[in-house]
Amino acid sequence: FPNLSLPEGFIFGVATSAYQVEGATKMEGKGPTTWDWASRQPGFILDNTTADVTDLQYYLYKEDAARAAAIGITAHSFSISWARIYPFGVAGSPLNQQGLDHYSDLIDYHLSVGIEPVVTLFHWDTPLALVAYYGGFTSPQIVYDFVNYAITIFQSFNGRVKTWYTFNEPSVICDLITGFPFNSFIAPGVNSSTGSYQCAFNLLNAHAGAVKAFREMGISGEISYKNDDVIGIPWRSNSSEDMAAVERHASFGLGLFADPVYTGDWPQIVKDTLPESYLPRFTDQQMADLKGSADFFAIDAYSTLYIKAPPDGVTTCQNNISDPAWPSCNVVVPYDSKAGWAAGLISDPASSWLEATPQLLREYLKQLQERWPSNKMYISEFGMDEPFESLRTEMYQILNDVTTTNYYMTYLGEALLAIHEDGIPLMGTFSWSMIDNAEWSHGLEPKFGIQHVNYTTLERTYKRSAYALCKHRTRHS
Ligand code: BGC
Repeated sequence: FPNLSLPEGFIFGVATSAYQVEGATKMEGKGPTTWDWASRQPGFILDNTTADVTDLQYYLYKEDAARAAAIGITAHSFSISWARIYPFGVAGSPLNQQGLDHYSDLIDYHLSVGIEPVVTLFHWDTPLALVAYYGGFTSPQIVYDFVNYAITIFQSFNGRVKTWYTFNEPSVICDLITGFPFNSFIAPGVNSSTGSYQCAFNLLNAHAGAVKAFREMGISGEISYKNDDVIGIPWRSNSSEDMAAVERHASFGLGLFADPVYTGDWPQIVKDTLPESYLPRFTDQQMADLKGSADFFAIDAYSTLYIKAPPDGVTTCQNNISDPAWPSCNVVVPYDSKAGWAAGLISDPASSWLEATPQLLREYLKQLQERWPSNKMYISEFGMDEPFESLRTEMYQILNDVTTTNYYMTYLGEALLAIHEDGIPLMGTFSWSMIDNAEWSHGLEPKFGIQHVNYTTLERTYKRSAYALCKHRTRHS
């Protein structure tokens, strides 16, 4: 374990999102969201749970902030539910003052216990009305409504929040299955094979519009968005074919959003592949607004994939327009190190998508820094769901999340090396998650929390990983 120090001012945070922890979905004037709707459709959530109660953090936020502070956490990255502020989402529709007051109190309380509030404006819970009116992110109308909502939030919390994000993981939002989150709800006339790209286009313009307003209003602090994992490293480091495959994979994944934010335009390879009827082109004004629209680079860096070029003669990975969904252009070699359990002979029924690969983190960060250089980087989320935790019956077993603890310790050790040996300007890490919560379509079974929640009593209990994080921070501060 490296005997190295965290840089001065390093943020040692935890993360959550509104839908996943708040509960109280119908309380205090909140409007319905896409996920409130989807979680009521039979079979949509694997374990048939909804997030109507989940951790009830809407009412228990004081306890949660205080418990995070008690173990040395210095920041909480949470999201605001758009539908609590504008129940119908639309600019000019009624504002729900109760919702605004709630987040104001929450921010004040966090500050009072020494936890920095980090605000994300949108973590996937689209006000349902926007989807019904015009197809949500598939319509350019979303730009106007999102910027209106963003301005309300900036005005309300200016001076109390230092770190802001517009969107969490844009490519997940624009993925047809997870983000909308259901094909059937795309507005009439929207072609589902182009919907992803229209979404990406509108989302980027909404991001740029919000950042422009932020800067024009002179809001204090820094603003960015949370990139997601869609990057890989070459399977064979000396293979030019694999390097090209990585390039392609990164361009259609993370680069689809990061390139416009850096350069003002789509990655060249994407433009070369997709005609305008698929991928709308930016106007000069849109490009100017997009370029430089992030003050720092934030990445939800859960795992790293190996990317391998397709064998000669295989054309299925060509990212051509016959691929109706989000393009997956390369062969991704699965690297199932998640639990190291029985070489895949048994599987965890509650398991999420995650492959935990902390040992590849340095390579991953180097690649990010090479492609999208920044002076400041945050790992805005990282973590894993403890294998088989939901099958454990005894409390002492549940709290002993040893695989997650090992993951965190390996990961944070690698992060320290990345800072000291590789010169990565990493200034903060945010563990996902502060608390067990509603894991989207997987429901309540996957256990990502460093705290256990008893879903009958709502009692919170620290797990082994929480103590390990606490110890790590003390040892390296
Ligand atoms: C998302 C979280 C999610 C986590 C685990 C992240 O990509 O931002 O909302 O719970 O992954 O799947």
